[in-house]
Amino acid sequence: MRHLLDTTDLTVEEIDELIALAMDIIADKQKYAHICDGKKLATLFFEPSTRTRLSFEAAMMELGGNVLGFSDASCSSASKGETVGDTIKIVSCYADIIAMRHPIEGAPRVATYKSDVPVINAGDGGHSHPTQTMADLLTIFREKGRLKDLTIGLCGDLKFGRTVHSLIKAMCRYSNIKFVLIAPKELSVPDYIKTDYLEEKGMEYIETENMEEVMPQLDVLYMTRIQRERFFSEDEYLKHKDAFILDTDKLKTAKADLTIMHPLPRVNEITTDVDDDPRAKYFEQALNGKYIRMALIITLLKWGGAL
Ligand code: CP
Repeated sequence: MRHLLDTTDLTVEEIDELIALAMDIIADKQKYAHICDGKKLATLFFEPSTRTRLSFEAAMMELGGNVLGFSDASCSSASKGETVGDTIKIVSCYADIIAMRHPIEGAPRVATYKSDVPVINAGDGGHSHPTQTMADLLTIFREKGRLKDLTIGLCGDLKFGRTVHSLIKAMCRYSNIKFVLIAPKELSVPDYIKTDYLEEKGMEYIETENMEEVMPQLDVLYMTRIQRERFFSEDEYLKHKDAFILDTDKLKTAKADLTIMHPLPRVNEITTDVDDDPRAKYFEQALNGKYIRMALIITLLKWGGAL
């Protein structure tokens, strides 16, 4: 049995196979409509979510399986003091696979120590969000036809944005990737991402606070929200909340085939008129999230011998 806590749990070959499986699901949904008949997915969300939880649930339903779980820890016995370990031990008696989001970094890892079924990290604090990264990789692959030879701009809250951390870790494993890190100094990528991934892997990267200056270079622009819930004070958040706002004017110098991405939810960092730009792919990215989660559910159940 294997869990998914981070994309680094997967080899590059496994990532490529998951993307190929998602592409096959997209091409022939009926082929997979009953593959999980009789199986149950538990979604345990100790932190709010729209896309991740609902796309996991839609994914399992489209595979013929069923779902159970909670979307608010206050409705679970966690509110009475039950530990993550005990919660998982119990839920793994009821479900064949678990997707879990938790505000505390490392909580899904603790869950794996107690679980009798595969656990998928659906986001843990500011640490990691591997299934979002898989959705991002599928989106880049569908738009560009490759996961190599790309200049990727990451913009916004690169300190607390777990999707950024996961995406850098994943893209560092592909060839000829250049990162352009666009953030205020106070919200730059954590040092461990720079030393353990960007520098360790010899990746080319630059840091800048000027989005307009780097726009013409980019093949992919990955916008992110300033993560209000992870700031220590409201004043700090207010100082940065409008740091970068992408609008149609800023896109005038962008490549004709730029892919604009955002893990969503958006607050105000992309103006709504950008939605009509054919380069805006963030809603497709959310849909890709369902397909890649279908591929992940099938694969983890197979690895665990449940399929
Ligand atoms: N992208 C993402 O994780 O969205 P949710 O918080 O709505 O799940």
